[in-house]
Amino acid sequence: MKKLDFVHGKAKKHSTSFNTSTISMSFLQPFCLLLLCFSLKYCCCTDTFTSNQFIRNNETIASNGNSFKLGFFSPVNTTNLYVGIYYNVPLITAVWVANREKPINDSSGLFAIAEDGNLVVLNGQKQIMWSTNISDYRGNSSAQLLDTGNLVLRDNSSGRILWQSFEHPSDSFVQKMKLGTQIGTDEKYVMTSWKSPTDPSIGSFSAGVGPLNIPQVFVWNGSYPHWRSGPWNGQIFIGIPNMETVYNNGFNFVDDKEGSAYLTFTYANESTITYFSLNSGGTLVQKYWNDGKQDWQVTWSAPRNDCDLYGKCGLFGSCHLSGSPICTCLKGFEPKNLEEWNRGNWTSGCVRTMNLQCDRNNTEDKEDGFLKLTNMKLPDFGVWSNAPEGECGSQCFHNCSCIAYAYYTGIGCMHWTHGLIDIQKFSGHTGATLYLRVAYTELDKKKSMKVFIVITVILGSTAIAICAYFFWMRIRRKRGTKQQSERYLMKEGDAYPKYSNEGLPGDKGQEVAVKRLSRSSGQGLEEFMNEVVVISKLQHRNLVRILGCCVEKEEKMLVYEYMPNGSLDTFLFDQQEKVHLDWSKRINIIEGIGRGLLYLHRDSRLKIIHRDLKASNILLDEELNPKISDFGMARIFGGNQDQANTRRVVGTYGYMAPEYAMGGRFSEKSDVFSFGVLLLEIAWKLWNEQKVLELMDPRICDPSFKTEIWRYVNVGLLCVQDFAQDRPTVSTVLSMLSSEIADLPTPKQPAFTERLPSAETSQNTRSVNNVTVTIVEGR
Ligand SMILES: *[C@@H]1O[C@H](CO)[C@@H](O)[C@H](O)[C@H]1NC(C)=O
Ligand SMILES: *[C@@H]1O[C@H](CO)[C@@H](O)[C@H](O)[C@H]1NC(C)=O
Ligand SMILES: *[C@@H]1O[C@H](CO)[C@@H](O)[C@H](O)[C@H]1NC(C)=O
Ligand SMILES: *[C@@H]1O[C@H](CO)[C@@H](O)[C@H](O)[C@H]1NC(C)=O
Ligand SMILES: *[C@@H]1O[C@H](CO)[C@@H](O)[C@H](O)[C@H]1NC(C)=O
Ligand SMILES: *[C@@H]1O[C@H](CO)[C@@H](O)[C@H](O)[C@H]1NC(C)=O
Ligand SMILES: *[C@@H]1O[C@H](CO)[C@@H](O)[C@H](O)[C@H]1NC(C)=O
Ligand SMILES: *[C@@H]1O[C@H](CO)[C@@H](O)[C@H](O)[C@H]1NC(C)=O
Ligand SMILES: *[C@@H]1O[C@H](CO)[C@@H](O)[C@H](O)[C@H]1NC(C)=O
Ligand SMILES: *[C@@H]1O[C@H](CO)[C@@H](O)[C@H](O)[C@H]1NC(C)=O
Ligand SMILES: *[C@@H]1O[C@H](CO)[C@@H](O)[C@H](O)[C@H]1NC(C)=O
Repeated sequence: MKKLDFVHGKAKKHSTSFNTSTISMSFLQPFCLLLLCFSLKYCCCTDTFTSNQFIRNNETIASNGNSFKLGFFSPVNTTNLYVGIYYNVPLITAVWVANREKPINDSSGLFAIAEDGNLVVLNGQKQIMWSTNISDYRGNSSAQLLDTGNLVLRDNSSGRILWQSFEHPSDSFVQKMKLGTQIGTDEKYVMTSWKSPTDPSIGSFSAGVGPLNIPQVFVWNGSYPHWRSGPWNGQIFIGIPNMETVYNNGFNFVDDKEGSAYLTFTYANESTITYFSLNSGGTLVQKYWNDGKQDWQVTWSAPRNDCDLYGKCGLFGSCHLSGSPICTCLKGFEPKNLEEWNRGNWTSGCVRTMNLQCDRNNTEDKEDGFLKLTNMKLPDFGVWSNAPEGECGSQCFHNCSCIAYAYYTGIGCMHWTHGLIDIQKFSGHTGATLYLRVAYTELDKKKSMKVFIVITVILGSTAIAICAYFFWMRIRRKRGTKQQSERYLMKEGDAYPKYSNEGLPGDKGQEVAVKRLSRSSGQGLEEFMNEVVVISKLQHRNLVRILGCCVEKEEKMLVYEYMPNGSLDTFLFDQQEKVHLDWSKRINIIEGIGRGLLYLHRDSRLKIIHRDLKASNILLDEELNPKISDFGMARIFGGNQDQANTRRVVGTYGYMAPEYAMGGRFSEKSDVFSFGVLLLEIAWKLWNEQKVLELMDPRICDPSFKTEIWRYVNVGLLCVQDFAQDRPTVSTVLSMLSSEIADLPTPKQPAFTERLPSAETSQNTRSVNNVTVTIVEGR
């Protein structure tokens, strides 16, 4: 049989001459009476079909712009036939299914408009398998597949829309579709999952916009919440980490305040083929058609981990993915059932350790206060209040039924009155600040005051001491004293000793790290001081702060803030330590380094090329946040300069870009190269070591995990391409890592730099550069 492929306007290769062939049917069944009066025609060459036309198996109609098709399809591994709408791409993936519950088991099915004007799916016996079910309509209607993927049934005479597939979603949410409630119809538009990847009938999960107050997207398992996006702030859902970078792509929440409220999305580039679907396991995924690979790729999904599961830690419990265990009670609360809690059954949640003054009726007591919790996923059931920012807290304070509040730009003031559920503590700078009401005794006002005073005293006296020291040095120099101050010197290679406070005059116990520069670095004093001054002005959470420096004749030393976890190389290359670096921490480290580098290259007032980025120059703080250190070789670029040459190549072989190592040319792109090597060291080794995979929490190791590592390795390979102009900039790298740029280019042959023993390489060769870069075929 001929394969028909109807395309609006131009009937492509398979142009056909069917247009008036009539079929006769056996009208034995009563249902068929509906169709009695019609002589049916093939529906040809159009996006519209009317009452005397139909589609049968192996025929499709295409939308006007050719974006979507409608026709019969079979899910993978089955022979059941369903009528569906799908993107016009080689891999059929239905975004809407008509006869979900009743498949057709042979190829004699029809999709047509019945006599009563309804769209119907009929099987070979002409039984109705599905109908649009408009009951109060008698007339002539026609159906059109719009280029948005919406199938619309209209009354022919008035043009009134009788029914549209966008108002009856299956498991997919495509651009311009609406998710929410529509005025007048009282109908909720929710996505419903398939039962299984091979069975489109309605499964147990659904997704949609939650009960309106503050809009949130939910995935429900039956009637229980399974996942929650957190509140909508007008641009993003603030409970989805990194949504800023992934999705500032045209989500819109429309609330006309008259009962009609819905979520839609439109990509800036409308030719991007992307949509959301709710899979049969309850995961909401964003898919994107990769034209190069001719396959769908998942660019985002939720829930991704245990903490994303709704109410994982119960009432007043907070989930922190990198915590161990992941659930903790909020401050001022204790497990309701300690035994179950310790067993890892957190669902019963936490209860207050100390009653609030509100609940005690004792006016003698000190008043309750609020604890500030930062970077939180705000709990569910927030109630919006019209209080301005300044009054949000006091309004909550003066109402005993208010147990927490938050103010978020774009949303306003939110109060919570009942149990707090589904709270997460995020790593990094996402999330919101939540103020939690606790009894006076839980507030450590005195303690924090004490700490504040101690810190002020320490910082003040250190500053004075350092100033005094320089002043003293200056006087000494003037006098021309030849005295050596050996006591400040340390063994070379002792880059970050744990305690070095005995050397610093006037120290008050602050831990610092001291780095000694080589005598032969050849940098002039003025140049060195200039650099120290410039770099001390830089402030970024991913750059280590320089607290001061010491110069004595040829000796130069730098005083840094102390980093308790030492440098990244000890973590990466030490068998015992690397166990602590699970994937989420590695991601945090990579992103942190990237942001620090972006700041150096673009966002600070100066343009700085680091020139010696490597694992041993990345320090880690208590929470394993990375900080770039050692600006000894950094170069500051002037206004429009973007490349410079040097005859003295310093750095570490293996991390050095070829054009720099061989030609002495350095630029942002040579730093990108080093960053790429680092990225490969962090990601690739993890990928390569099956052992580490075993050590990972199996719950974290979801299917997207491999894809994600792969993505990081791919970006790493892009950074180490031979030619500087092929390498992405740091900002592009960050976008690629965060999936904002979904379609990664294929890396060209990576650079290979032979390791030469040279007197000119940096004195510090502590880091191990045993990464092997191999081109791997995409899977
Ligand atoms: C539909 O197409 C498939 C292969 O494309 C073919 O095997 C089958 O016989 C066709 N059925 C009809 C009814 O045309
Ligand atoms: C389809 O069948 C193949 C081979 O049996 C199997 O590998 C694959 O997982 C199946 N796909 C689905 C979605 O069930
Ligand atoms: C197909 O389904 C019809 C009823 O829906 C049934 O009578 C028929 O036996 C089925 N055929 C097969 C091959 O399963
Ligand atoms: C149409 O109505 C029939 C009977 O009222 C019902 O069984 C069927 O599920 C309905 N179909 C749809 C698609 O709503
Ligand atoms: C539907 O169209 C047919 C032919 O154009 C016409 O005869 C019939 O009266 C129409 N029916 C209604 C209810 O308008
Ligand atoms: C309904 O409208 C369509 C397009 O506007 C037209 O092609 C079709 O003939 C009309 N059908 C009837 C029965 O009037
Ligand atoms: C969904 O709910 C059912 C019944 O409540 C439960 O058995 C199942 O484990 C849940 N699924 C998930 C993924 O939570
Ligand atoms: C939009 O996306 C298409 C396909 O992904 C691409 O070819 C085109 O260049 C993009 N247009 C813009 C303006 O980015
Ligand atoms: C978790 O604890 C609750 C009570 O605290 C209990 O009802 C439930 O059965 C426990 N669940 C499991 C899986 O042990
Ligand atoms: C506090 O006082 C109110 C009325 O004065 C009373 O109804 C309530 O039970 C008291 N609460 C406690 C905890 O004593
Ligand atoms: C306290 O807050 C609750 C819930 O927001 C509200 O119903 C009640 O009217 C408030 N009471 C006062 C005195 O404002």
